[in-house]
Formats: sequence, structure tokens, C-alpha cells
Amino acid sequence: MSLRDFQKHNGSSKLHEELPSGFEQLIAPGLTRRRFLSGFGSVIGAAALGSFMGMAPLQRVHGNTRSSLLGFTQVPASTADTFVVPQGYSARALVSWGDPLFADAPEFDASGMQDSAAQSLQFDDNTDGMSLFPVDDDRALLAVNNEFVNIRNFYPHEGDAITSDDVLKSQYAHGVSIFEIRRGEDGFWSVDKTSQFNRRIHMRTPIEFSGPAAGHPLLRTSDDPAGGVVLGTLGNCANGKTPWGTYLTCEENFQDYFATSTEVQFDATQQRYGLKQRDVGGDWYRHDERFDMAKHPHEPNRFGWVVEVNPYDPQDTPRKLTALGRLAHENAAIVVAEDGRVVVYMGDDARGEHIYRFVSEGRFNPNDPAANRGLLDSGKLSVARFEAAPGDLQGRGHWIELEHGSHGLTPENGFADQAEILINLRVAASIAGGTTMDRPEWIVVHPHNNSVFCTLTNNRNRGVLENQPVDAANPRAENHYGHIVRWTPTQGDHLAEHFDWDLFLIAGNPAVHPGTAYAGSAAINEDNMFNSPDGMAFDADGRLWIQTDGDYSNKGDFAGMGNNQMLCADPITGEVRRFATGPVGCEVTGVTFAPDYRTMFVGVQHPGADGTVSHFPAGGDSKPRSTIMMIQRDDGGVIGAA
Ligand code: FEO
Ligand code: CA
Ligand code: CA
Ligand code: CA
Repeated sequence: MSLRDFQKHNGSSKLHEELPSGFEQLIAPGLTRRRFLSGFGSVIGAAALGSFMGMAPLQRVHGNTRSSLLGFTQVPASTADTFVVPQGYSARALVSWGDPLFADAPEFDASGMQDSAAQSLQFDDNTDGMSLFPVDDDRALLAVNNEFVNIRNFYPHEGDAITSDDVLKSQYAHGVSIFEIRRGEDGFWSVDKTSQFNRRIHMRTPIEFSGPAAGHPLLRTSDDPAGGVVLGTLGNCANGKTPWGTYLTCEENFQDYFATSTEVQFDATQQRYGLKQRDVGGDWYRHDERFDMAKHPHEPNRFGWVVEVNPYDPQDTPRKLTALGRLAHENAAIVVAEDGRVVVYMGDDARGEHIYRFVSEGRFNPNDPAANRGLLDSGKLSVARFEAAPGDLQGRGHWIELEHGSHGLTPENGFADQAEILINLRVAASIAGGTTMDRPEWIVVHPHNNSVFCTLTNNRNRGVLENQPVDAANPRAENHYGHIVRWTPTQGDHLAEHFDWDLFLIAGNPAVHPGTAYAGSAAINEDNMFNSPDGMAFDADGRLWIQTDGDYSNKGDFAGMGNNQMLCADPITGEVRRFATGPVGCEVTGVTFAPDYRTMFVGVQHPGADGTVSHFPAGGDSKPRSTIMMIQRDDGGVIGAA
């Protein structure tokens, strides 16, 4: 809810000069109260404060509104080691890490002892973004990202003595799993291990570079002197599905896999991409030399891309789409503009990074799927800038085109050509004036009204680092609950230069921080609170599904929130209801639907992470395993509907 919306409902635009207690938490460290009042806060009205902080006035407007879109009974917060769905719903596991995907694959070995050869035929670890591709009424393909591995559970030695085969096993456990599922008599689906479509794309799969940076000197290595083919994809976080039936898998935290055998002085660009002397513990560089940056400094440039693959063709060579830029990609939200050009919205998930828009040069042709394969190879990339009048928590924004020769993207600033802008996109976007955001995660486009939503999951650096000042679109210092920004392009045209934006939802804890900015927005109460919104999806009716990847300690600032969870919001009324809760230590991420919206597929990633104890999904004393859950209504109805 925004200031103007609130005023519309209340007929009030009176300015408020007094800060209620606790509002100082909105003020960036270093800003005095007076300076704050004379600047950002000076024209924030009581109405805006009410809307921002979930105070009573706004709740009178919307608090009792019953959304006609949300037709299920909310589940309570949970700390149980189970997956909980509402009354009248059932959830079952479809596939877990280590389950066989091929007829000749071994069953999961509960000791975790299976070798690389076994893993190459099994479902991989850390299920994340996924899309469903129908084959017929009762058959479909699932394309699923496998983001990383949980080292403690992945090896019997818990990572203490990583061998060469351990690295290979890990490399086989990253990437994308594509497999056929079939609907049984009871309506639930199961994996068909005999399907000809089943395929693993992992760290040893050849992938071609396409688009403007393919072959660029910065992508060349001793193994690939032409800069045209790279082995593998990793950090496969969220996803996209094109209107021409291909799958997009987005590479996120590639920097975690690189290390150096001897000391390397990183330049500012390498530092901006988070490269460090040490990896996060996978030891790949000791057994696969290309991950040693001291020897192969260009190898990291070959990751951080969006990869396109045709799931209907098991022989299809995947392609890294350099026109979409190199980032810690979260997902790729695609919409076709009225004139047929394809628009892709993308977030870069790191503290203080940016939001991007790609507009294709060519036009979508629904009658020629093959011709559409090149649409994401040529077009214009822009970065978002969010602006607002002083004191407003909404405003206008515009897209700044990242084109060589303009907006400071010149050889003097380190960009010899357009390809270098794409490869070092973070640096280019900052020079051009993009707004630094609170960790952009998933972006989704409303199916009916062209509004766009982006989760900003949290950002402890907001208001702390000089380049990340508190601003209207990121209004809380040390934002540890996250929020969701929404924009609508001018006249609903996704090609428009400008957009109007507001904050759709601000997460918070009204029990721990009542009456302050950290209580969250009006839609948040003690019964539905959560932190760190991340995954999102719209269903065909316009329900906004929200998944969380946050602090599950259930203590302190996060008391009462329990495990990570899934919620559903009505984007018109703003109402939010908790739909599901995950097991201990997990993140809930990845969501897709059967074409009739009567089965929902939801990812449970890394149960038992960070030293927590989980035995999900099998119980007993079993190893915790990342798992895709299937959710159905017992009466066979549409998920979430009345
Ligand atoms: Fe893989 Fe930003 O989440
Ligand atoms: Ca995520
Ligand atoms: Ca996250
Ligand atoms: Ca994750």
C-alpha cells in the first residue's frame, strides 16, 4: 500500500511533523533526526507512516477485507520437521536428491556413499527454480535447477577430505535435471525413469556461447581458445520459461566455486563479482584446474549467464545468452510486448546490486518456434532507476540503456566495446546510474494487468555502505526482513522508458517491533509474518505466490516466524496468507503448476542446513534431502482458490 493509495482511501494528505516512536529506525546511521526531517522524512504524512508500519488506520481500510482470490485456511507458523499444507490439501514428495532418473540408475544410497557415476544418473541436490512443459494431458516434462550441494550431507566425510571423484560427483550434482512425469489414477504424478526425454545437464555438459560476447577475448581460455564453448553450468538458481517452449536456467553464485593456488591481486571488477582467494569449501580448483584463477583468470567470466535449453529435444545443445548480461542471476521473467518484441526482467542477487530489463530486437513468431531461438541474442539491455518525491515511498522510475558510448560506458571507463559491458555488467550499470537495491531476487509479471513484482530479500548493508544509502525504494536501514517492490510500465507497455512504482509489501515483525518501520506494512500481522521473500509465481487467476529464504531461528527479530514458508497474496487487496511451511533448516524455493493448476510443485531446498537437524522427507534417522513436493486439494480443485 502506497501513500497515494492510502490518501485516496482516507481523503487525507495532512503532513505529519512528528516521528512516532521507533520511526528513527528508518533513518540511516549518520543521518540526524533533523536532517532526516528536512529531507526524506519531511513530507511523509501520517498516512504514509500508517501504511508503512502496519498501524491501525490502514488496517481499518483493508484489515477486514476478505480476498475473493484466496480460498484456503491459513496455516500457523511452524518449527516442525515436516511440510505443512492447509486443511483440505495433501502434499507428497515427487523426487528427492539421489533418486534415480534413468532406468539403469542406482537407487539412492542412504549412506551418501554413491560415487560420481551414480550421481550422474540421479536427481541432483538443492532443487530450485523449475518449469513444467506439457506433453499431453497426463504427461509432462519438468525442467529443474539444482543450485549447489550440501557438502555436510553430500559426502560421508562431510567435506573433510575431498577427492577427485568427490569433485566430479559434485559437478554432476549441479545444473539442470529434465525428466518426464506422469499423472496416476489418484491425480498425483511420478517420475518416468524410462522416458527418452530424461536428461542431466551438469558441469561437464558442453554449452555454447551465443550473442554479442560469444568469442570475446575475455571469454577465451587455454581449453577454449575461441571463447565459444564452455563445459557446464552452475549456481542454477531460478529460471524462466519462454513462450516458444524453451527453459531458461540462471547462474547465480558462480564466484563461490573459484579459488587461487597462489596469491592473486583482484582488480575492482573481479572484486565487484565477489571473487576471492578461497572458494566456499568445494575444493574444485584442486582437482579441476580451470577453477584456479591463478592459472585461468578468464574462467569466471564464463559463468553468471542465463542459459537456454529446449527440454523437448534431449540432443539440444544449451546456450549461454550473453545478450542478457553477466550477473548473479536470480530468474528471468519474460513477457511479449504488444508489437511482438520480447522483454526479460532480471534481478542480480547481491547486496546493493541492480534490476535489469532486456528488450529483443526481433519479434516473437508464435508459428515458428525454431526462429524464436535467436530472439534473446540481440537486443537492448537497461538498468532500473527508482525515483520519488521527498518523503514518498512510491514514485516514478526509468530504464537507463546500457549501450557502449553512452552514460559513461566508454573506453576511458574501461569498456572497449559492448561485449565488455555485458561481461562486466554490474560495473557498467553503476556507472550509468542504476539504483542499488536490497538484493533483487525473483521478478514476476501479473498475468492480467502488466504490473511487475520483485522480491528484495534483505540487505544488511543498506544505510551502512556509502553506495547503498537509505532511499525510497529501499527505505529501511539494515533491512533484515525484506520487501517487494512493484512497478507498472507507462500505459502498460513493457517497452516504455518510464514506470510507476510502489512498495507492494514490506515484511516485518509486528510482535517484536510494534509501531515501527520494522513491523512491516499493514498486510503483515502476527499470524502471517515472515522474512526474506525470495521465490515468486503468479498463477492464471492472478494469485501471487511468495516463498521465503530467511532466518528460521524463530528467535529475536524473527521470533514467531518459524521455518521458511510459502504465502499467497492478493495483489489487488494486498492480503497475505500463509499457505505452507517447510521442514527444519530448509528454504522453500521453486514453484510451478500442472496446466490445470490442480497440482502445484514446490521445492524444499537444503533441509537441515547450517547445523540444524532435519530428517526430511523420510523421517527416522535418515539423511535430509532436498525434495520437490506435489500439492493437491483433496477435492481436486484449483490450488489456492475458494
Ligand atoms: Fe539462489 Fe538469490 O537465490
Ligand atoms: Ca533465491
Ligand atoms: Ca535467497
Ligand atoms: Ca538457495
